[in-house]
Amino acid sequence: MRIILSTGILSLLVAVSGFSDNSVRRFKDGFLFGAASAAYQVEGAWNEDGKGRSIWDDHFHSDPDQGPAPGDVASDSYHNYKRDVEMLRELGVDVYRFSISWPRVLPRGFSNVKNEPGLKYYDNLIDELLKYNIQPMVTIYHFDLPVVLQHLGGWANPYSVEWFEDYARVLFDRYARKVKYWITVNQPNSVCEVENYENHLARSTKGVMDYMCAKNLLLAHARTYRMYEKEYKKKYGGSIGISISVNWAEPVTNSTENVEAAEIYREFKYGMYLNPIWSKSGDFPKLVKDRVAKKSKEQGFARSRLQSLSKDDIKLIKGSADFLGLNHYTTFLTSPSKGSHPVPSFADDVSVDVTTKDEWTQSHSAWLKSAPYGLYKACLHLNKHYDYPAIFITENGWSTDKGLKDSSRSEYIQQYLKALLFAIEDGTQALGYTHWSLMDNVEWMAGTSERFGLYEVDFDSPERTRTARQSALVYKRIIQKRMVEERWTPKNLKISVSEVKTEL
Ligand code: NOJ
Repeated sequence: MRIILSTGILSLLVAVSGFSDNSVRRFKDGFLFGAASAAYQVEGAWNEDGKGRSIWDDHFHSDPDQGPAPGDVASDSYHNYKRDVEMLRELGVDVYRFSISWPRVLPRGFSNVKNEPGLKYYDNLIDELLKYNIQPMVTIYHFDLPVVLQHLGGWANPYSVEWFEDYARVLFDRYARKVKYWITVNQPNSVCEVENYENHLARSTKGVMDYMCAKNLLLAHARTYRMYEKEYKKKYGGSIGISISVNWAEPVTNSTENVEAAEIYREFKYGMYLNPIWSKSGDFPKLVKDRVAKKSKEQGFARSRLQSLSKDDIKLIKGSADFLGLNHYTTFLTSPSKGSHPVPSFADDVSVDVTTKDEWTQSHSAWLKSAPYGLYKACLHLNKHYDYPAIFITENGWSTDKGLKDSSRSEYIQQYLKALLFAIEDGTQALGYTHWSLMDNVEWMAGTSERFGLYEVDFDSPERTRTARQSALVYKRIIQKRMVEERWTPKNLKISVSEVKTEL
């Protein structure tokens, strides 16, 4: 099957109807299903109980006339965490991926001042999950840097490595006993690209080069991994990884330039983080190093804008993950850039344009279309280049408008999980899957206009009432059966807590 799928037949299957092979494939026992969220996007309580400000609070409150920020209350999970856990029980999941808000536990950024009510909130959430046998998966950093640290340059400051390590230690000391799955950083590639900063997705690189941030984040991740490995792992038996955004990219046509563009795109967008951790040689990809060095020279810089990693750095970073957290949403088709970009910039270094196919279903977010075969191809790419790493799909999801009848999300989940089953059959070591997202939340600059939830949140109600969408029932059914029944739709939208997790 591997050979057949890896060649033309796969493309044919995909081009015609996605994965339309009907033989029964199942997720093995031990494969973990779950749902995901992140602190700023769901918690609210932005200035309660001693919480400090994050860069997102600061951004949305910078204009006094702007009124309340979307994250001030968000889905109000700070007060609704018991209901959140009830929803997870309704779905019948094994794991809940959520993030900890750095300024909620360390309001001044540094570990000298700890905020006990903030720490207690996460204790309560973790205990509630464990009470129902749902494993917590904690993301240590999901975009919400304490604003005080941003004033010191944020991730561009080499000392950010230590700030992060100190913060992580506070979390390990408090929760490592109870939390078995850790993720250091969510999507370093989103945090570090100045283009994203200009779109306000990741403000922490303001005024500095993307590459300084990339290097510091990698070092922060690796030092934290080594600390966990040395001091906590044996004692508590947990595992720790990093989540990287790996949307598939392939050439729009098979011309040499387009094929080259795909490689450049992949190496800059995720090879930058994958290569140092998972390749045999470690370090940034050669293609990236050469390209940035060449451009930097042409631009009159005395040295490459991509700072090199020392031998010790390379050693420290290589192998610093127990699993690869894969955030995958969509696929892009590449060609060399036609327009111009600011010089210097990450966009100019990459100089690749991306497009999509008209026939791919469009979500409620401009950037997100459904192309499930891309997940299959991304997994095979990782297997080939990084020697079959253990992969946890930490994000995969779909946006809609308001409304409970979200058949496009149901279809997306079914098709992407089917693609994952094919990837597993072809050698991918997939440990689990946490769907993005458990509930509607603040989609960063898009506010609450793009709904990613299996549960709808009524942002007009003070209680932020949550209601299961059709897709919640579809996902629940997949978890129960451990397989994808493509045309299955629920008869009604009633959902309740399953007493037995696997009623086959
Ligand atoms: C990835 C990010 O981690 C998450 O915060 C965001 O909401 C989703 N993508 C959807 O855009």
